[in-house]
Amino acid sequence: MGLTVAEKCIKRSIVYGDMTKRGSRIGIRAHQTLGHDLNAIMTFLALDQLGIDHVKTELSVQYMDHNMIQADYKNADDHRFLQEMTSKYGVVCARPGSGICHQLHLEYFGIPSKTLIGGDSHTPCQGGLGMLAIGVGGFDAAMAMAGEPLYIKMPYITNVHLTGHLPEKVSAKNIVLEVLRRIDVKGGVGKILEYTGPGVKTLNVAERSTITNMGAETGATSSIFPSDENTKAWMHAFHREEDWIPLSADKDAQYDDVIEINLDKLVPLIALPSSPGKVVPVREVEGTKIDQVMLGSCTNTALNDVKSLANIFQNNEVSDTVDAALYPSTKTVIAESIKRGFFNPIVNAGIRIFEPMCGGCNGCGFAPQTHGVSVRTTPRNFPGRSGTKDDQVYLAAPETAAASAIKGVITDPRDLDFPEYHYDLPNEFIQLDNLFYNPIHVDEVHYGPNLKPIPHFDRHQDTESGEVLLKLPNNITTDHICPAGALYLPIRSNIPEISRHSFMTIDTTFPDRAKAANGGILVAGENYGQGSSREQAAIIPRYLGIKAIIAKDFARLHLANLVNWGVVPLTFKNDEDYQAINQGDDLKINLNEMTPDGDITVTNETQNIKFFVTTPLSIEDIETVKWGGRLNQMRNRSDEHVTA
Ligand code: F3S
Repeated sequence: MGLTVAEKCIKRSIVYGDMTKRGSRIGIRAHQTLGHDLNAIMTFLALDQLGIDHVKTELSVQYMDHNMIQADYKNADDHRFLQEMTSKYGVVCARPGSGICHQLHLEYFGIPSKTLIGGDSHTPCQGGLGMLAIGVGGFDAAMAMAGEPLYIKMPYITNVHLTGHLPEKVSAKNIVLEVLRRIDVKGGVGKILEYTGPGVKTLNVAERSTITNMGAETGATSSIFPSDENTKAWMHAFHREEDWIPLSADKDAQYDDVIEINLDKLVPLIALPSSPGKVVPVREVEGTKIDQVMLGSCTNTALNDVKSLANIFQNNEVSDTVDAALYPSTKTVIAESIKRGFFNPIVNAGIRIFEPMCGGCNGCGFAPQTHGVSVRTTPRNFPGRSGTKDDQVYLAAPETAAASAIKGVITDPRDLDFPEYHYDLPNEFIQLDNLFYNPIHVDEVHYGPNLKPIPHFDRHQDTESGEVLLKLPNNITTDHICPAGALYLPIRSNIPEISRHSFMTIDTTFPDRAKAANGGILVAGENYGQGSSREQAAIIPRYLGIKAIIAKDFARLHLANLVNWGVVPLTFKNDEDYQAINQGDDLKINLNEMTPDGDITVTNETQNIKFFVTTPLSIEDIETVKWGGRLNQMRNRSDEHVTA
């Protein structure tokens, strides 16, 4: 039987298991890794404890793009620490401000058919180049850098079959919004979304990467396109044609399901506050008054996007009631935009231009006003992520965001008069010097005062008990658990400090109550932990004494982080048991009963009833979580080794 593109990539990197058995445990080894300045602090602290002296991958790259405000010493300390650590371990390190990790990686390093494991949930961006790219937390990134396999469930493979051509003023972002409209924020769980069909060749690599990047919002393990002549042209333009290989699905490849999208029929779409899955046609909300527009992020400020914006703004200005900003994705995009005059109409229209970084996307600047309505081209819009607690963030394509900035209300770009847009990929992009540091000599790594060591966590007892400290609804995001925003990003390197703000958008009393109760248990609905890869969302509840989380189900990436940091994930067997629990109930859980298939007894001591839960973990992960996390387990292994 023939293979899909995803299977061909997995075949190149699988070191354990059988990829024909969907849902079974497989181990894949990364050719490349990437990290960014928020998650990589934990990566390097963990790497330091793994006792290796050099990364074991073909290539590992560190970017500085998330934590860039430098309002005081904290970001600068982190960046210096990362520069020293990358020199020590043989990791390529980008200078702060060179560009957003995923776009810079597309320009300089991504290779079709190879496997990338990245410490960021939008790592699948490289799927636009035909690379198998999977997002993980910082600890799993460290393991990948140390040459250890990443263990995942072999994904089911969905054929997203594209036909036709995108209509004028309907750009590629609308394709992934259409996927989200169809399958919502859980529809990709356990799957790789593989794009096929004649519509593929109508999209360039940057457009494809917008789609694979935002595929993360469906919960998918990854998304991938074939590698074809458009891919070759991209790599040629970045002087890397020798790394290109053709990659397509075999004619008799078998997919597990199919999503058909006729591009001719697509209309401008928009995701409503505050979930990327709440997608409707722009027409349904046109006329909604807005306060702000953010153009940028790792999904939508490649050169083609900037050209499209320049085209729209050459005869149009931003409304006086709207603040608008552009974050170019990389310095390459800046240099090309300046050379081609794209910035002139954008600047003249009244738009602020920031440096190439995540910026407003994770609330690191450009937060909207109180109750502010913001239209953004970013991939996600979880509550408060913009840095403003009561924000109302809509997600749309650059053309919709620009038209809305001009009119002051949400506007279908087809109603705005602007010239027809045409973009040809440059034959050659400007190659800038000094985007990456040369390695430096490191006598001593400097840990700033904000950078605290990884806390120690105990092994679990056979029976764990505690109070239900929060009863949570469906779709709790990592932004809820560990806040984004300029005030909180700099203290992600300081677990005691950031833990004081855990769940702040839901219940500001939680951290104090957790400490007073000496920890406890969380109860949640579906898709607990959706969103980013930040493992602080697992570490800080653990630091506050949370022993177990009983949810209807968990997001893939967060589940892996819970295992790594020793928080026991358990799943309800039915909705009635979830409904019956009250916040404040005392529960006792028999962890001795944990197996991949068996029931685990939970006693509700307050209500004097018993019910059963299960765990979504494999036998190997159960062992890890019982140890209280992977570091404990690895330390124990090395102790055994020493004793032996
Ligand atoms: Fe950065 Fe936002 Fe992308 S935080 S990596 S621009 S999703």
